[in-house]
Amino acid sequence: MSSQDPKDNKDFKSTNDRLIEHSYDGIQEYDNPMPRWWLLTFAGTIIFSVIYVFNIGPVGNGKGRIADYEDDVKKFAAAHPAPTGEISGDKLLAMVKDKDALHEGEEEFKKYCASCHRMDAGGLIGPNLTDNAWIHGGRITDIYKTVTNGVLEKGMPAWGTMLKPEQVEQVVAYVASLQGSNPANPKAPQGPPVTP
Ligand code: HEC
Repeated sequence: MSSQDPKDNKDFKSTNDRLIEHSYDGIQEYDNPMPRWWLLTFAGTIIFSVIYVFNIGPVGNGKGRIADYEDDVKKFAAAHPAPTGEISGDKLLAMVKDKDALHEGEEEFKKYCASCHRMDAGGLIGPNLTDNAWIHGGRITDIYKTVTNGVLEKGMPAWGTMLKPEQVEQVVAYVASLQGSNPANPKAPQGPPVTP
């Protein structure tokens, strides 16, 4: 026992506190239990972590985190179906008469398509889109399908996964509006001619 026994301290209250024998640099400690609130909080965090990790209902939905994640992905896929390339031709034909839609479509064409099809769509790497020869069909719904799904093996990207649905519709309407625009030095026709 050091000369500075804590029990000599006039603030010392409890007579139950057990003083641990060791003394480091003259500092001694009591062997007091951790306060109850602290122990309960500690135990609570352990219980919570188990519930959290296994996502046990009713705290989670009981299916586990992975299943939760897969559920979320499924819900998202259901809310955002992948473009199929099917569309009502009437909707597109109406857009061909809509100046605003054509204007948007023209902007998109210049941004995304002109590098392969030329600014005036006369054809470069990709075919001339202004003539009546079509490899993949010349009805406006065919064009929509080609643009949406692309022709990956020939280097035509699938725009359905890159542009918003209305952007695809606008650019298709714009392409359709270019029929017969006869740009100078067009690429030679590719594909069978389609009579409108
Ligand atoms: C990286 C080059 C490239 C870009 C960019 C590109 N295309 Fe194409 N496109 C092609 C090629 C190559 C073909 C020919 C595919 C084939 O031979 O089957 C094609 C074919 C097409 C066809 C079908 C033509 C036919 O005769 O049936 C349409 C329609 C078309 N593209 C529209 C577009 C539109 C609209 C865009 C922009 C959103 C675009 N393309 C961007 C390369 C491109």
